[in-house]
Amino acid sequence: MKINSTVRDFSGAIRVRGKRKKKFLYASEEPVKVDEIKLLANKLHPGIISLKVTNIKLSSLYSKIIRLEGENIPYFKAGQYLTLSYKINNLNVTRPYSIISSPNDAISDKPFVEICIGYRENSISGKYLFENVKINDEFKVEMGLGDFTYNSIRDSKNIVCIAGGTGITPFLSMARSLKDGILDANITIIHGVSNSKDLVLNDEFKELLSDKIKLVHVLSSNEDNWDGLKGFIDKDIISKYSSNDSTYFICGPKAMYDFVLKELNELKVNKRRIRKEVYQDNYSDVKREKYTLEVVRGIDSTFIDCYSNESLALALEKARIKIHTRCRSGVCGICRVRVLDGEYYIPKDNDLRRQTDKEFGYVHSCSTYPRSNIKIKINI
Ligand code: FES
Repeated sequence: MKINSTVRDFSGAIRVRGKRKKKFLYASEEPVKVDEIKLLANKLHPGIISLKVTNIKLSSLYSKIIRLEGENIPYFKAGQYLTLSYKINNLNVTRPYSIISSPNDAISDKPFVEICIGYRENSISGKYLFENVKINDEFKVEMGLGDFTYNSIRDSKNIVCIAGGTGITPFLSMARSLKDGILDANITIIHGVSNSKDLVLNDEFKELLSDKIKLVHVLSSNEDNWDGLKGFIDKDIISKYSSNDSTYFICGPKAMYDFVLKELNELKVNKRRIRKEVYQDNYSDVKREKYTLEVVRGIDSTFIDCYSNESLALALEKARIKIHTRCRSGVCGICRVRVLDGEYYIPKDNDLRRQTDKEFGYVHSCSTYPRSNIKIKINI
């Protein structure tokens, strides 16, 4: 925005009023038939759309790239995610996936969007989708979600992306958007994996590497025929690929966050220069206790099972009680319910509720875990 002077800028508002009056005076008496603003808003935010699987490619032993095509794919920002809704044995599930394609692909002649799905042994949905997805499958999709995105006003042009395992996915979209000229920055991706079999999206990144896009792998296991970096992504590795003003984008599992944030702290990196994608702990190590969840809807109550290591949203899904979810990590708030009675636990990093919600007992069901029998109220 151009700033002139206080007097000129304030008088601008008065000039606009005059111009608007003139427009009204000379405007056509014909009513507006096409509302261009509404059309644009619908194009950018079409709500839930239907997309068809048109290509599936194995990216590593445990990951697949899925291409989805359809009409009205909205433009999005690199780093954002979409949600896929599908059925597992008549059970409706919705899960978030980082978008790996460039925003430009969504507005090409044959619009498409790509995601990378991983096989996860302890996740019903992760396992199911990996094993069962096929060409021509149709999914309900919500797009353009999340704010793990680059902002040229806030962030430096020197971006260091630190990824753990499949946490590298949003950075492929960023690298592709840089190649497409949407993003004006330099990206170095430091990718930590436990062994070379976990190197996902390697071919896709190879096509993009340049002076502006660099990729460094760090292997935590001790493989004999690996001649790259070994160990964890520590402060020596981070500082080697950073400049004084770098902005850090981090995406990966909880253990990696804990380690990398400690290293960045030791490097005295200001928190303002760190962007984190919110992860969700899978609680596979928490002792599984069974409780009863009473779900109040209007004047009806339903009693279902819930477990200490599963979120309330998952318990509702399993009982076929409709609950809308998007991020599944406590950020967006769409899965908000009110706890009327009982004990619960919300991991600190996933407790992103408003203060008033905390005071009035509202929780985000995707990141709330029961610690006793519990009673909640959800919207009908
Ligand atoms: S789905 Fe986003 S907060 Fe629960």
